[in-house]
Amino acid sequence: MKRTLLFAPLLALAAPMPALAGAAPPVATHEAAPDVQFSRLWLGSAWYPEQWPEERWADDLRLMKGHGANVVRIGEFAWSRMEPREGEYDMSWLVRAVRLAAKYDIKVVIGTPTDTPPAWMSQKYPDILRVTSDGDRVGHGGRRQFSISSPRYRQFCRDIVSRMVKALGHEPNVIGWQIGNEYTEESYGPAARQAWHDWLKAKYGTLDRLNEVWTTAYWSQTYTAWDQVPFNDDKNNPGLMLDLKRFITGQWVDFQKNQLDVIRAGADSDQFITTNLGGLGWANRFDRYAINRDLDFASWDDYVGQGHLKPYRNGATHDLVRGWKRKNFWVMETQPGFVNWAPVSNILHPGETRAMAWQAVGHGADGVLYWQWRNALNGQETMHGSVIGPGGEPLPIYDEIKRIGEDFAKTSDALAGTGPVSPVAILQDYDSRWAIDFQKHHKDYDQIEVLLDYYRPLKDELGAVDIVEAAGPLDKYKLVVAPDLNIITDAMAKHLAGYVRGGGHLILGPRSGLKDAFNRLHLQRQPGPLADLLGGRVEQFYALDEPVAVGGGEAKIWAEDLSVKTPGAKVLLRYGKANGWIDGHPAAIERKVGKGSITYVGALIDDTLMASLMGKAMDEAGVRPDFAVPDDVELMTRRGEGRRIVILINHGRDARSVSLPASMRDLLNGGDVSAVQLEPEGVAVLERPEGK
Ligand code: GAL
Repeated sequence: MKRTLLFAPLLALAAPMPALAGAAPPVATHEAAPDVQFSRLWLGSAWYPEQWPEERWADDLRLMKGHGANVVRIGEFAWSRMEPREGEYDMSWLVRAVRLAAKYDIKVVIGTPTDTPPAWMSQKYPDILRVTSDGDRVGHGGRRQFSISSPRYRQFCRDIVSRMVKALGHEPNVIGWQIGNEYTEESYGPAARQAWHDWLKAKYGTLDRLNEVWTTAYWSQTYTAWDQVPFNDDKNNPGLMLDLKRFITGQWVDFQKNQLDVIRAGADSDQFITTNLGGLGWANRFDRYAINRDLDFASWDDYVGQGHLKPYRNGATHDLVRGWKRKNFWVMETQPGFVNWAPVSNILHPGETRAMAWQAVGHGADGVLYWQWRNALNGQETMHGSVIGPGGEPLPIYDEIKRIGEDFAKTSDALAGTGPVSPVAILQDYDSRWAIDFQKHHKDYDQIEVLLDYYRPLKDELGAVDIVEAAGPLDKYKLVVAPDLNIITDAMAKHLAGYVRGGGHLILGPRSGLKDAFNRLHLQRQPGPLADLLGGRVEQFYALDEPVAVGGGEAKIWAEDLSVKTPGAKVLLRYGKANGWIDGHPAAIERKVGKGSITYVGALIDDTLMASLMGKAMDEAGVRPDFAVPDDVELMTRRGEGRRIVILINHGRDARSVSLPASMRDLLNGGDVSAVQLEPEGVAVLERPEGK
């Protein structure tokens, strides 16, 4: 959708973990590894050789090669095959699989199997098992039954990973490691409980301090001993809940580091380390910036589930993932047609799997791997889509994946070293997401949807938008949008004010600056420590049961009543006849600060108004739009190495033609073109001369 130009008249209206048992592994100095993961486009799948007779492996690899695979991931659930009995290790089969893959020129990513401890371990050492918040210990038979906080489990993880590193850490066909698989549930067992109380003690020093910042005088919550502090995922004091999330994040970081240190110490430095994060990207059980900090690059699992690709949401998720490390990433798993876990696990349209692969690349992925290569004959996921069937024959989707292989072979050299570059960033902050989720105030207040409201018009204009951590560097951006920055600490306020004073343009969305670092209300009305810079503030927030008029359009779900406190601040949007409390009051205000500006938008506004607002913001920030494309066509650009690659995808159900602003080289079909015709799910990959 292109922006409407009706904005002007509307505007006129308008912490550390306690020491673990066992000796810490030696920590190697990690030399900067050559980024093999970004040196070309990688295509492959998750392969489970442990599920099949060894005589079959060569056929699998031959078929992979046949569709253009150059990478395979193995090992991540195979603990019982690697250590069939306690202390009895067998890595030889894994080494044979890796070496056989080398014969087909297929590189290997090794998954550590710590998502699925073997039955002997669960039986003999039940303390390695996860305890739910209700106090139940999870049994064997599924996966993710381990406790991330169990010192014994961490020791077992170190041991198995050490053996793996010894066997494969210098194997030339291994390009990298994936730690565990889709980190998910934390544990509430005794070890974790003790760690929680130790963590609080280390953070606050005294209970008086904790009682003060959590305001425990409320409901007689005052604690007089550390072990009185609850440890469960019940609804509790918001200060406690926020700290619990930070503690859980720390547990995952430590759980990961426990293995990561072993790999860094023993494996070649050009073997990368990543992990695949699931939960459709946006999940927030823990802070994903923190998890990625120690890794070489981020990976995620891109599943559609029921229905079809939602281009904005999925594209924004790729951008979120790229923002975790601020560099290119991998899609470590994606569906070959369909999944098994959705309410209706339908197949994607013909061509949609290919379009998804290209959308991933357009947003900065350098690797796309299918889950899974072949269905296991039994097990919980026999019904899931796969590339070949249980009998070992290619399934109908194989040919589409082969086409992706052909595409990648034609474009890999041109794309190597390039990535999306944007002058605009949307800020994401896990503390703020948690704080709002704990106290939503309106059941339909969905922070991802709020972010997407801002994202869509920016993406339409620019082709690339960054989604990055609020606390990270912002100087390269001309425009920064923080849709829901509920927690603004003094440090964050300083960071954002510095950006504005340095000439940056900052837009704060609703609910910004309500809370401090302890999830306490600021004494100063929103946006708290940024209210003075804004020269205005929020007088009151309102959850809306009905839409209200604003700036000639409409606000739904949320509307804040703003006021201007300084002559320099200007009203951008006003409510029309609304709910009686806000009629005619400011809904958005802006203040110029030197060459920069700070804007506060207090309502969730409709798409047309948002497109106008973002259009105006881009104009004022001096952000130039890229070329226009028709509805349903997504434009993506990757730059680098003196090259500019344009990727176009038609996500719609009708053919579209796109006229290009300059003649471009068609990397998929050859030749120079000045227009392209895109069938539904059609893709064009074009090399664009710099400056045109
Ligand atoms: C992922 C998981 C895979 C497989 C897949 C099925 O979340 O990492 O192991 O279960 O889902 O869609």
